[in-house]
Amino acid sequence: MGLPWDFTPLHGERIVLDTLRPDDLDALFAMQSDPEVCRYLLYEARSLPEVRAALARDAAATRLASPDDYLQPAIRDPEGRFAGTMYLKLESVDDRTAEIGWILAPWAHGRGYASEAARLLLDLSFGELGLHRVYAELDPRNSASVALCRRLGMRHEAHLVEHMWLKGEWTDTGVYAILEREWRDPGVV
Ligand SMILES: CC(C)(COP(=O)(O)OP(=O)(O)OC[C@H]1O[C@@H](n2cnc3c(N)ncnc32)[C@H](O)[C@@H]1OP(=O)(O)O)[C@@H](O)C(=O)NCCC(=O)NCCS
Repeated sequence: MGLPWDFTPLHGERIVLDTLRPDDLDALFAMQSDPEVCRYLLYEARSLPEVRAALARDAAATRLASPDDYLQPAIRDPEGRFAGTMYLKLESVDDRTAEIGWILAPWAHGRGYASEAARLLLDLSFGELGLHRVYAELDPRNSASVALCRRLGMRHEAHLVEHMWLKGEWTDTGVYAILEREWRDPGVV
């Protein structure tokens, strides 16, 4: 297994995954303070001080070595503009499992940027990192996120019913996952 792993930028055909920088603050704030963007996230729309703190925390998260270590790189479009963030958290070293997540700025929706960014992280996970399983958890009402999981070939593994009190209501969670062998050969499960 390729751990520890220190972040280096990941280049796709159109987008690049790169570390967050101090000058991303305005774009990150615009995204994370938007109630529509945050509708299905675990957190409420964030204030500027909250986003500033999150940026400092996430920009420093550049090493995967132990459970709960995570990366939160920026997605940059072909012009270098901040288009969103990706998330990869090492869940277990023994089980070689990680969680993946994604958020796009509203203007960047519908261009395939999240799919391309997720494929870069899945290639990394099942290649250099040597992981066995990557999963995503989402609110099943989040149809754009469900569609993204399906585009990536992730299997629907679970639907947890009202297991979480979130934002004033009992909330369901969907679990989608993909194994290394499924990523390498989508025809063989
Ligand atoms: C979830 C989320 C990242 C999905 O974004 P998205 O834009 O639908 O996903 P992608 O970037 O992969 O783009 C796919 C769309 O781009 C289209 N597209 C256009 N050009 C494309 C190209 N060159 N390549 C691939 N797809 C392209 C696809 O057809 C697809 O459109 P469709 O949804 O009408 O079928 C986005 O809705 C989001 O940020 N939501 C708010 C935050 C959130 O809820 N995050 C998830 C928490 S679990």
